[in-house]
Amino acid sequence: MLHVAIIMDGNGRWARDRGLPRLAGHREGARAVRRVLEAAPGLGITDLTVYAFSSDNWKRPPAEVSGLMRLLRQFLDGEADRCIANGVRVSAIGRRDRLPGFALESLERAERLTRGLSRVHLRIALDYSSRDAIAAAARAGADSREGFERKLIPDVDLLIRTAGEQRLSDFLLWECAYAEFWFTERKWPDFDGGDLAAAVSDFHRRQRRFGAIPEPLAERRDIPA
Ligand code: FPP
Repeated sequence: MLHVAIIMDGNGRWARDRGLPRLAGHREGARAVRRVLEAAPGLGITDLTVYAFSSDNWKRPPAEVSGLMRLLRQFLDGEADRCIANGVRVSAIGRRDRLPGFALESLERAERLTRGLSRVHLRIALDYSSRDAIAAAARAGADSREGFERKLIPDVDLLIRTAGEQRLSDFLLWECAYAEFWFTERKWPDFDGGDLAAAVSDFHRRQRRFGAIPEPLAERRDIPA
């Protein structure tokens, strides 16, 4: 299993650099999601989680919020067949009760149509706040590490954030406990399969220790502890 999570940043700056409205950047960003989804299986990625709309994004101007919701519907409706053909399961994490009806409808349809598929699991974080997700898990009875693991999503292996920002912004706080981080200056609409391959290849060169010490050192009996 390889779980890659992406904070897709820089859509607005990409558009501004070209004298375009912010929504043009988001539209191009949706194309980048499709590119990444296509590249994922070839890179051994089994789980891909993308941060499409945070609970704090409701603070954006209403026109941008509704544009993002429409884009989401277009993406879900337009990609459903391709997801089915490629074995991609689609689901969402986050609150559903504040989503507009048309977006929720498309989401539930995509979830229903792709439920049995397992080559790649695409999770779209929508109206998502990790702190709220953790609090909800606790309210639902989680009171141990295993309890939280059951109510949250699988641990992230590799966290990617684009456009030069280096923060988590309330994304998968629990699940990123041992994630490797990879940052790039590239703005999300320009991100492609080659960038994803570079991130995954860098990830495979890292030594993950999970708090232990490297194997060869652990085996050396001549060096006192
Ligand atoms: C951050 O860039 C991006 C978002 C808040 C929205 C991400 C949405 C998409 C990529 C498109 C829709 C998603 C799917 C799954 C189809 P920003 O607007 O904060 O950019 P800026 O920091 O340059 O202003």
